[in-house]
Amino acid sequence: MTRFSCHLFVCTNRRAEDNPKGCCASKGSEQIAKAIKIKAYERGLKGQVRVNQAGCIDACATGVSAVMYPSGVYYQQITLDDVDEIVERSLVQGEVIKRLVLPFRQAAPPAGQETG
Ligand code: FES
Repeated sequence: MTRFSCHLFVCTNRRAEDNPKGCCASKGSEQIAKAIKIKAYERGLKGQVRVNQAGCIDACATGVSAVMYPSGVYYQQITLDDVDEIVERSLVQGEVIKRLVLPFRQAAPPAGQETG
C-alpha cells in the first residue's frame, strides 16, 4: 500500500558553472519545483501527491528534468510555463504530457517482475 498516488521528483541538482554536463538548477529547476509544489497544494493534492526536489536523475542535457512514479515517465525541458499544465494534467488527471516526455526513458519493472 502506498501513501501517495504519485510522486514527482524534480531535479534541482547544481553543478559548478564550468561543468560541461550542466545542471537543472542553472536552468531554474528550484523555482520550478517550488511552483509545482505550491500549485499542487492549491489544487488540494497535499497528502495525495508528493512533489520532491531530487538530485541528478541522469537527464542533465535536457533539463529541467523530472520523473514521476509510479509511471516512471520522465519529463524534460520543463519551464515555469509548464507548471500549471503539469499539475492539472499529470498530477490531477494522471495524464502524460507527450511534448514533455523524454522519449528514451523506460520505467524499470518492479523488483521481481523483470522480463527476459
Ligand atoms: S542535473 Fe538534472 S538531470 Fe542531471
